[in-house]
Amino acid sequence: MVLNPHPLRAVIGRAPGRVNLIGEHVDYNGFAVLPMAIDRRTEVRATPLAAPVLRVCNADPGRFPAEEIPLAALATRPPRRTWVDYVVAAARCRPPVRGVELLVSSTVPVAAGLSSSSALVVATFLALGEAGDRLALAEEARLAERYVGTLSGGMDQAIALLGRPGHCVRIEFRPLRARPIAMPEELVVVVLDSGVPAPKGGAAQDGYNARVRECLAAAQALGAPAGGLLADVPGADRRARAGVLADPLLRRRASFVFDEAARVDEAEAALRRGDLAALGALLDRSHAGLRDLYDVSCPELDALVARAKAAGALGARLVGAGFGGCAIALTTRQAADGFLARLGGPALVCVAAGGAERVPV
Ligand code: GLA
Repeated sequence: MVLNPHPLRAVIGRAPGRVNLIGEHVDYNGFAVLPMAIDRRTEVRATPLAAPVLRVCNADPGRFPAEEIPLAALATRPPRRTWVDYVVAAARCRPPVRGVELLVSSTVPVAAGLSSSSALVVATFLALGEAGDRLALAEEARLAERYVGTLSGGMDQAIALLGRPGHCVRIEFRPLRARPIAMPEELVVVVLDSGVPAPKGGAAQDGYNARVRECLAAAQALGAPAGGLLADVPGADRRARAGVLADPLLRRRASFVFDEAARVDEAEAALRRGDLAALGALLDRSHAGLRDLYDVSCPELDALVARAKAAGALGARLVGAGFGGCAIALTTRQAADGFLARLGGPALVCVAAGGAERVPV
C-alpha cells in the first residue's frame, strides 16, 4: 500500500453515509448485513501546512468547532466526545509527518442513524493515504473507530468503502466479505427523520455497548466457545433454545438476533426474485423486533413507522443503531409520488451509491 503521509498538494477523501436495508444489530454478533451506500457524502480536504500541527476544521464551524493538535501530541490525545474524535481515530493510524489542515464538509445528516461518523472516519483515512485493499482498510477503520468508545461491528466502515451504484451489498464478517446485489429497478428507498438525535458518542453509545455485552453473555449462556459470538452458538436448535433462556433479557436479545439474521437471508432471496411485498414484510418484522425484543426504538420512531405504513409503505423500520435517528420506508417507483404526498413532512429518497474515493485537487 502506498501511503501519502505528507501531501504536497491538496487531496480530498470522500465517503458516503449508508442505509441498512435489513440486518440491524447483527454485525457484532458475526451475522451478515444488507446495507447500501447512499448519495450523501462526507468530504475531508487535506491541505499541507507549514506548522507541525493537525488542524481539524469544519465548513460549519458554529456547530463543529475546530481543534489544532500538535503532531507530537496526536498519539496521546484522549477522546473528548467531540466530532474531532472521529478524525483523530483515523489520523492516529495515518499519522502525518508534516503539518496538515483537514477541512470537513458533509451532506450526511448527523446523529441520524445514517453513519455520518464512519463516513468521517473513512474519508479521513482517504484524505491521509491511499485506499489500497478495501477489505483490509474497512477492517482497519473498524478497529480505529473503537477510539471513540463504541464497540461497533464493522458494517458502516465496510459499506462506506464497498458501496456499489445501484446495488446493496451483502457484507459478511470474520473474514470480511462483500457481495453486491442489484436493487430492483422499481424499488424506492425513502429515509424519514424522527428528529430525535442519536449521537454515536452520546447516550446512544451506552445503550449500544450494553447490547453488545448482553449478546456476548447470551452467546455464553447458549454454549458458544469462550469469547464467542451468537453466530458461534452451535446447534440447529439454537433459536429454540434462545427462546427459553432463563434470563428474560438475554432471551429477548438472542431471540431477536437469530430472527434478524434469518431475515437477512430471506431479504436477499426476496430481492433476487424481485418480491418487494415479501421484502417489505421483513422490514416490518425487523422493526417489531427492534422495538419489542431489542428495546432500541422510541415513541417517535414507532410513530414514524406507523405513519409510513398508513401512507402505504411496503415496509418500514428504524435504521442504524436506533435510540432515535431515522426510519426507512420502501415503496415503488409507480407509487412513490402518492406515498410521499400522503406522508407529508420531509423525506429523503435515497439512491444506492458508490463507495469512498480519494481525489487529488
Ligand atoms: C451502528 C454500528 C454498526 C451496527 C449498527 C446496528 O451503526 O456502527 O456496526 O451495529 O449500529 O446495526
